[in-house]
Amino acid sequence: MPEPKFASATAKPSSPRDGLAPAGAYPAPPATLVIFGAHGDLTKRLLMPALYNLAGGHLLDDAFKIVGVDLKPSDAGAWREELTATMQEFTHDKTAEFYVEHVDEKIWGWVTQRLSYVTADFTKPEDVAKLKTHCTGNVVFYLAVAARFFGDVVEKLGQAGLLTEAEGAFRRVVIEKPYGADLESAKALNARVLACAEEKQIFRIDHFLGKETVQNIMALRFANGIFEPLWRRDHIDFIEITASETIGVEGRGAFYEPTGALRDMVPNHLFQLLSMIAMEPPNSFDAEAVRSEKAKLLQAIHPVAPDAAVRGQYAAGSVQGHDVPGYRAEPNVAPDSRTETYVALRLTIENWRWAGVPFYLRTGKRLHGRKTEVVVHFRKPPFALFRDTDVERLTPNVLTLNVQPTEGMTLSLSAKHPGPKMVLAGVDMRFRYEDAFNMTPNVGYETLLYDCLIGDSTLFQRADMIEASWAAVDPVIQHAKASGEAPELYPAGAAGPAGADALLARDGHAWTALAG
Ligand code: BG6
Repeated sequence: MPEPKFASATAKPSSPRDGLAPAGAYPAPPATLVIFGAHGDLTKRLLMPALYNLAGGHLLDDAFKIVGVDLKPSDAGAWREELTATMQEFTHDKTAEFYVEHVDEKIWGWVTQRLSYVTADFTKPEDVAKLKTHCTGNVVFYLAVAARFFGDVVEKLGQAGLLTEAEGAFRRVVIEKPYGADLESAKALNARVLACAEEKQIFRIDHFLGKETVQNIMALRFANGIFEPLWRRDHIDFIEITASETIGVEGRGAFYEPTGALRDMVPNHLFQLLSMIAMEPPNSFDAEAVRSEKAKLLQAIHPVAPDAAVRGQYAAGSVQGHDVPGYRAEPNVAPDSRTETYVALRLTIENWRWAGVPFYLRTGKRLHGRKTEVVVHFRKPPFALFRDTDVERLTPNVLTLNVQPTEGMTLSLSAKHPGPKMVLAGVDMRFRYEDAFNMTPNVGYETLLYDCLIGDSTLFQRADMIEASWAAVDPVIQHAKASGEAPELYPAGAAGPAGADALLARDGHAWTALAG
């Protein structure tokens, strides 16, 4: 059994690496990490820096090994050079996912001396069987490959006997997103995967759950007594969840064209935020207890009707002072593409806590600002006490949970403006993570890789959660497919299409402005 995920710690740990190795953390058991897609961006830009950070925090065992698998003929030496070059790039690029002033040679050397490489076509059984010699003891297979290969690779691993757990050793498979393309394909993938391995061996990853601020939502709600009594329909008017990006599709046109913003972000990242915000308190922080509450919440989402969704696509425009082309002019994108790069949804949750409270979700590319946040709008106070004052100025309390780029939270309150008259003014109480804790640069995959190695599935998606998430958005996906409806255009650098504002205006609400 893994140690419990949550333990107490003191703010401001003294060593900068303590952020990754809090009191009580112990190295993961010895294991081999087999990475399918060794040359891919995910491996170079996220997995390797995460392993470097885990090694720096002494969280990997001395017997830890890494096997890269890819189609490209290569060897351990060449792979090491390629990975080292990418790590060095991080020291020059302050905007990279992972910026470090310098790569610690000792730690990086510790990681790279554990590398080996196998050239293999992972759709061929004889190639996958070549991995047998590398796979003794505990093994984690990481599928950092295009989604169309997920089912195939798991089947080949199963056929080669590589998923059979024997003599106390574990065999685990990490599967990236997108996990399916709609409800039907997600169900089919679950069926294929679960025919080869048990649910407890499958770690469906969602990198949003590796973000400290996302995990902090659980801490905020369940480790503080003051929020939970208010956390319901009697006190909450509506909730917004936003993940807005300023970047475009960044050369990922081939992936994005059949995917679009809804599949790329909603049933996974945004719904993970939603379930953290809205689930019932679990009985314990045991993985199954937490995941069952999340699954119940996702199952309670009323399937979103097509008219409660707005799809948008960016046209040419200007983002933060730079002129940028429209989506249809991006490489590998059809000139008449109907893929959405923005989506806004209004959804409701059918349970006693949330009945009647609208949740508004939006995400998009090439928007005016970059931010991920949850905004909880509380109900207005009764006016009676202030009836002789300027009631128009009475603003409801708003709690904003900032996931990125600012990490923290803000509570807006009304306060008396100094002076002889009762005049109210809005004030903010702010908490910023960086003020309270030493933050270690990390890519968010550290916790997830570590959890997989120690067998803690709390932050991974179970089959039922995946299916419930797709079921909630399936009517919108099927409608877009069947109708062939073109998304509404918005100029790059805007806050989204006009239809998204109209969606909230119907309820008398408005989106919180995107930061500049
Ligand atoms: C990925 C999506 O899963 O998440 C990308 O495929 C998106 O399109 C990214 O840009 C956003 O993640 P983050 O951590 O940068 O907010």
